[in-house]
Amino acid sequence: MDPPGDELIFFVNGKRILERNAEPEMTLLTYLRRKLGLTGTKLGCAEGGCGACTVMVSKFHRHHNRLVHHAVNACLAPLCSLHHCAVTTVEGIGSIASKLHPVQERIAKAHGSQCGFCTPGIVMSMYSLLRNNPQPTMPDVEEAFQGNLCRCTGYRPILEGYKTFTKEGGCCGGRGKANGCCMTNGNATNPDFTNGHKEDHINGNSTMSDQPLYDPSEFMPLDPTQEVIFPPELMSMSKEPLGEVRFRGERLLWIQPSSLTELLDLKACYPDAKLVVGNTEVGIEMKFKNLLYPVILAPAYIPQLNSIQHTKDGIVFGASCTLTVMGDVLRTAVATLPPHQTELFKAILEQLRWFAGLQIRNVAAVGGNIMTASPISDLNPVFMAAACRLTLASKGGTRVVEMDGQFFPGYRKTILKPEEILLSVEIPYTKKGQYFSAFKQSPRREDDISIVTCGMNVLFEEGSNVVKDLQLSYGGMAPTTVLASGTSKKLLGRPWNESLLEDACVSLAEEMTLAPSVPGGMVTYRRTLTISLFFKFYLTVQHKLAQDGVNVEDVRPDYSSATEIFHAETPSSVQLYQAVPPGQNTDDVVGRPIMHLSALKQATGEAIYCDDIPCYENELHLALVTSAKAYARIKSIDTAEASAVPGFVTFVSFKDIRGSNMTGPAVYDETVLAEDTVTCVGHIVGAVVADTQAHAQRAAKAVKISYEEMKPVVTIQDAIESQSFYQPVRTIKKGDVAQGFKESDHILQGEIHIGGQEHFYLETNCTLAVPRGEDGEMELFASTQSASKTQALVAKAMGVPANRVVCRVKRMGGGFGGKESRSTVLSTVVAVAAQKVKRPVRCMLDRDEDMLVTGGRHPFFGRYKVGYMNSGKVKAVEVTFYSNAGNSMDLSLSIMERALFHMENSYNIPHMCGTGYLCKTNLPSNTAFRGFGGPQGMMVAESWMSDVALACGVPSEEVRRLNLYKQGDLTPFNQCLQQFTIDRCWQECLEFSNYHQRKAAVDEFNRQHRWTKRGICMIPTKFGISFTAVFLNQAGALVHIYTDGSVLLTHGGTEMGQGLHTKMVQVASRTLGIPSSKIHITETSTNTVPNTSPTAASASSDLNGMAVYNACSTLLQRLEPYKVKNPTGSWEDWVRAAYFDRVNLSANGFYKTPDLGYDFDTNSGRPFNYFSYGVACSEVEIDCLTGSHKNVHTSIVMDVGKSLNPALDIGQVEGAFMQGVGLFTLEELRYSPQGYLFTRGPGMYKIPAFGDIPTELKVSLLRDAPNERAIFSSKVGEVE
Ligand SMILES: Cc1cc2nc3c(=O)[nH]c(=O)nc-3n(C[C@H](O)[C@H](O)[C@H](O)COP(=O)(O)OP(=O)(O)OC[C@H]3O[C@@H](n4cnc5c(N)ncnc54)[C@H](O)[C@@H]3O)c2cc1C
Ligand code: FES
Ligand code: FES
Repeated sequence: MDPPGDELIFFVNGKRILERNAEPEMTLLTYLRRKLGLTGTKLGCAEGGCGACTVMVSKFHRHHNRLVHHAVNACLAPLCSLHHCAVTTVEGIGSIASKLHPVQERIAKAHGSQCGFCTPGIVMSMYSLLRNNPQPTMPDVEEAFQGNLCRCTGYRPILEGYKTFTKEGGCCGGRGKANGCCMTNGNATNPDFTNGHKEDHINGNSTMSDQPLYDPSEFMPLDPTQEVIFPPELMSMSKEPLGEVRFRGERLLWIQPSSLTELLDLKACYPDAKLVVGNTEVGIEMKFKNLLYPVILAPAYIPQLNSIQHTKDGIVFGASCTLTVMGDVLRTAVATLPPHQTELFKAILEQLRWFAGLQIRNVAAVGGNIMTASPISDLNPVFMAAACRLTLASKGGTRVVEMDGQFFPGYRKTILKPEEILLSVEIPYTKKGQYFSAFKQSPRREDDISIVTCGMNVLFEEGSNVVKDLQLSYGGMAPTTVLASGTSKKLLGRPWNESLLEDACVSLAEEMTLAPSVPGGMVTYRRTLTISLFFKFYLTVQHKLAQDGVNVEDVRPDYSSATEIFHAETPSSVQLYQAVPPGQNTDDVVGRPIMHLSALKQATGEAIYCDDIPCYENELHLALVTSAKAYARIKSIDTAEASAVPGFVTFVSFKDIRGSNMTGPAVYDETVLAEDTVTCVGHIVGAVVADTQAHAQRAAKAVKISYEEMKPVVTIQDAIESQSFYQPVRTIKKGDVAQGFKESDHILQGEIHIGGQEHFYLETNCTLAVPRGEDGEMELFASTQSASKTQALVAKAMGVPANRVVCRVKRMGGGFGGKESRSTVLSTVVAVAAQKVKRPVRCMLDRDEDMLVTGGRHPFFGRYKVGYMNSGKVKAVEVTFYSNAGNSMDLSLSIMERALFHMENSYNIPHMCGTGYLCKTNLPSNTAFRGFGGPQGMMVAESWMSDVALACGVPSEEVRRLNLYKQGDLTPFNQCLQQFTIDRCWQECLEFSNYHQRKAAVDEFNRQHRWTKRGICMIPTKFGISFTAVFLNQAGALVHIYTDGSVLLTHGGTEMGQGLHTKMVQVASRTLGIPSSKIHITETSTNTVPNTSPTAASASSDLNGMAVYNACSTLLQRLEPYKVKNPTGSWEDWVRAAYFDRVNLSANGFYKTPDLGYDFDTNSGRPFNYFSYGVACSEVEIDCLTGSHKNVHTSIVMDVGKSLNPALDIGQVEGAFMQGVGLFTLEELRYSPQGYLFTRGPGMYKIPAFGDIPTELKVSLLRDAPNERAIFSSKVGEVE
């Protein structure tokens, strides 16, 4: 029998933990959440790509003799790696009940938390930064957030809130509390800065608003002396010698040797053992590639592997040195050594800037990067171009090799023998006349894998420009890191001039080839990059030679931007909104920028999401078994291997469904569990139920399905060819298009493809189903936008009436339409499983499963024909849309209808005809996504509008202005535009953005820059508010007043971060005339408000707000006699009096939007209650050599009526804008021709990160624009 493992000792939030059964496969995150019940730390991706799981790990670094605090991804940190470490989670730094930490307080009060799912991770990244550096700079803050994602806020408020901690923050952050905030008492530390709070304060003093969005003078000061100390026990342990420790798990042995000799002995004994330092590679392989390494050796504490030696030739780093340590050492060297010696160091530092996020760099080892031998490693091309020397060690001794073209003999292979390890890498100094550059090109600048990455090293004959040695090494161009040796050889002895450049380009084009079918695609782009990156190197070296006095001509001024290294400017912003009227009661919070009511809880980790609900004692976990084929008949399902996995309980198939297996939100055209045929990769075939999530997932992977494949229809083009469409085909037609074309001066035709988009809500879909044990009752806790739909579809699958099923939703970590209907594909399976096993069953999808199974925004293809006049006035448009609906109807028809309702965007087109086809394909069903087809329809419109402007040679803003609607115009669907504000938005946006000056500056910039170009554009939008399915435009509310005067409010909408509950409390507070502190919302549930519509269509605060108002008004009427009788009494007095008088203090409210209903056959009736308008202007800069771009400036003017809450509304505008930036410039779903989704996690699918926000972002809510058609004259409650 194997000996038992050692004891694992570590601290969590100051508490000593002794774990006798440490499981080497368990991550710190699972341990925190499941074992310790610390659910503040969230799971967003399990691959180190989102930062939701960030915690701080502190340890005494024996080799560097100092205490270090690092932000770390708990999802990748093996539990066993924490021996003798102290972990701090979001719960450990502050709480509402005890005391908030300033980091928690400021993100909440600055409106930097919407759904809050990313918030604990962001809080911990900031906290870790401040522990190391109590007054950081803004670049430090931006670096700290490179590994954190937020899908809701658009990042601006987070950065601004945290700017108050920085040197350049300019705001005392309340430190000058005695006489108020520095910004208001005139003591600002830097009165000249022009962003962040100053702008807020400018708002405050302007005619627009008498209040900033938040007041930094309220912020608690940061007091670094109050932080939790490093446990003294660990400190004294760190002085004792370390012995070998072993942890034995179900499948894995983890050994932490204490010396190099021990390690080498072990490696000789277990040649296949993996060495794990950061686990950022091995963790991913085990989790996502289903690899198993039975023996893990953890060399993190071995002195020789952590040593840093400065030798006469360079610096030697032990292989376990983390990238953060390496960066710190190189930075110091650059600051202290002569510049010519540190050319290589600077190149490595440049690569490290864009290497993963800080959480990864804090744990990932330099040796791990080398030994992974990834063809897109960012360090290996630099090490190879520098011919770094590597020391290898084994029981038999050491040997030194150069990293050259032979070091990587094949894909993910090195020349190391199985019993060898990498001991160290020597990074040499450079010499006089030697120049080094490194470049990395990736889709997103921050935390992204490379498309092409390279290191370039040239040495000149002394004092000349004649090449003595040249090494060009590329990643991303072959299965291994490679040298362009042929090109280098040809250029030896040549002067560094244009002739060399020309030959180099020709030679690189010949040498750096790629097969058309190469993994990663983008063949032409990648080949072009090898040349354009060399061109950048050429110019950079030319410039350096000139500066170093070598007789060469310096780079032309208009070329010089090609030599510049990217430096982000610290973003600045403005937010304008209309203040509440003077004299408004201070208790009346309508119109005030009050904080999201859950923000503080979200920032402390106390906010409960579905998967944070404590486990039931007899609870089981579920994992989905999904189809690996896009279109196939299922021949057999073999569960034998799965059922042998420990903890396996059952396999659930369609045969276990007691009710109906047919499901769907609009029509029942899909299965809960596939029967004999699968129609997409990710089609749910069955589910495994087991005692733990790990066992369920392992067993699910062991289920074997054999298929008989059929030819799938994957793309829109495939569907058009095979005429694979759902019915009906919708058309909207106004005027006489043929006549319009005849009357036009010109006609043009065009087409545009718009890709799909993944919702990437930070919280994946989650359901906990709890059988109640009698009468078929089932209680569901679900992360869904549609509580009633979940209830109905679960009841249908279970074969029970809806009255036996309760669906409860506390909050979601983001929705964006993705949890409107597709959340039910999980809920129904979990409920069916719970019904079968008669025990609570839980499943939170992993990110890759969620992306695979739940679909996203519809890809669209638009074909258009446009008739227009010489002036640019458009006369007639004919447009055909095709959307990729996927393998079921879901909401695709309504989405297409909305695309058609927005096909003219904001332009008055006299003759217009649009037709929409829904392509039936073998992709997972696509679904609702913010804008619901509107953005696709508008994008096609803007495409033809741009074509017209270009064809006429008229500036695009003039053509757009010329065609804009006017008050009273009729849309193609014959709805009259009333209370029309787009012309005001347009005018204000022109001024707000300084459009004309900006455009002139853009022209000048482009004249002066050959390789970088800028562009600017203004785009209007008009968006119809209402569900296009009329029956959904209804809402209910239930309000109870208790005898102590407190009010419990329930309504039909769900909270997903958009602040709906906050707004509903504001509405109830004003209606009842009581402070919002007396009102509480617990959750949304189907047993309080029945038959609710999904929280969607941007109509939820309109609908639910009116229902809440109606319920509150009823209660107010009932209380009226008691108010009259006791006019000086308090609310509590009136409530008590009414109670004793036996008055019903509970009321429900109901609302349905009047005058709605559109008929496609007659093109009559009103589809929308009203329209919302907005205009945005953006200026962008593009690097013509690489395609990199940055957003220089964006101004947005948005009509949200009389805002119920300007902070929430501005948050929605900014967050939605950044999601649009993602859709149109960054995010790309990639499928194989067989319908297999490649992009299944943040590693492959890039949503905008902190660094992608515009350098200058200005938002203004249109003033004096009350909307008489919604609650308290507001508009567009939220942008779901
Ligand atoms: C979110 C994320 C972002 C990333 N971004 C980048 C990026 O931008 N650029 C990039 O290049 N990489 C990136 N990576 C890859 C990865 O972080 C690096 O390769 C990292 O340096 C690996 O180090 P580690 O200590 O975590 O390796 P581990 O996972 O601990 O080990 C990796 C491999 O190295 C072997 N190994 C480690 N040390 C030794 C040794 N001394 N001797 C022999 N073998 C050894 C192990 O056996 C294992 O096979 C990213 C990874 C993640 C998860
Ligand atoms: S959950 Fe750990 S980084 Fe995403
Ligand atoms: S608030 Fe950041 S993901 Fe929702």
